[in-house]
Amino acid sequence: MAEPAKIAVSNQKGGVGKTAVAINVAGALNARGRDVLFVDLDPQGNATENLGLRDEYDSEPPSLFDILSDAEQRERISELVCQHEEMAVIPSNIDMTAVEPELTLARRSGEQLALALEHIENEYDYVIIDCPPFLGNLMDNALYAAQNVLIPALAEDTSKRAFELLFDHIDALERDYEIAIRERGVVVNRIDVRKTQAKDMIEWISDAFEDTPVWEVRERAAIQRALANGASIFVEEPDCDQLEIFENIATDLDAQFDFQEVTA
Ligand SMILES: Nc1ncnc2c1ncn2[C@@H]1O[C@H](COP(=O)(O)OP(=O)(O)O)[C@@H](O)[C@H]1O
Ligand SMILES: [Mg+2]
Repeated sequence: MAEPAKIAVSNQKGGVGKTAVAINVAGALNARGRDVLFVDLDPQGNATENLGLRDEYDSEPPSLFDILSDAEQRERISELVCQHEEMAVIPSNIDMTAVEPELTLARRSGEQLALALEHIENEYDYVIIDCPPFLGNLMDNALYAAQNVLIPALAEDTSKRAFELLFDHIDALERDYEIAIRERGVVVNRIDVRKTQAKDMIEWISDAFEDTPVWEVRERAAIQRALANGASIFVEEPDCDQLEIFENIATDLDAQFDFQEVTA
């Protein structure tokens, strides 16, 4: 099988919907027949919990911490893979809260996730990486491994500053590692159409990201409910009116990454 498409779902701002978008994009890709590997790189393990893998968060070593901080354990990443009904998952772990300083000390500190994923990634069409809410070594590992970003953001004024910080960070990483990171889309999330600010911000974002698709996801209780029940809306809330948006995202990503129409 060919190399998978790898996408980091990034924004250092918390609560913008990285985890919600990552899980629902993964669910949409699965519904299209794609094999998805989901990596929860947030030490808080929200996605791990939202995918019903809470026990894994407290599991014994080796955990993702060991895979990222000890080169001799790297190959054991295959032992971490859990099977969710929609996707394969590499869960986060309580030990991940201690990984930042470990990575600072490591040689090739930003490359550890990429080196580990090499052992398993070819079994999948997509690797979706849910990023932590800070610009540090873990974020670098996600961006370096994926070299593609999908950016969830709120339709609020604070998003301008968040984009600025994120792109400064991406620019620096591109220079340091001599790589190119591509923006695959922006997901304006949790839109409340009753707020006038929302409309202005969507316009601002669409202008700022001229050559990048910008999708709009509304604030919906069904999205929250699905996560609380351990899966994407495709499984838990198939009547949610935002399903179509995630289908569009998946279709567009398939086109961007030159996937052929699924025939099976
Ligand atoms: N479109 C949405 N509609 C309603 N609630 C949402 C939506 N997107 C995210 N949420 C909720 O908002 C909170 C923050 O989202 P989350 O995905 O955890 O953000 P992040 O990963 O960026 O910190 C969560 O409680 C999540 O369920
Ligand atoms: Mg999150």
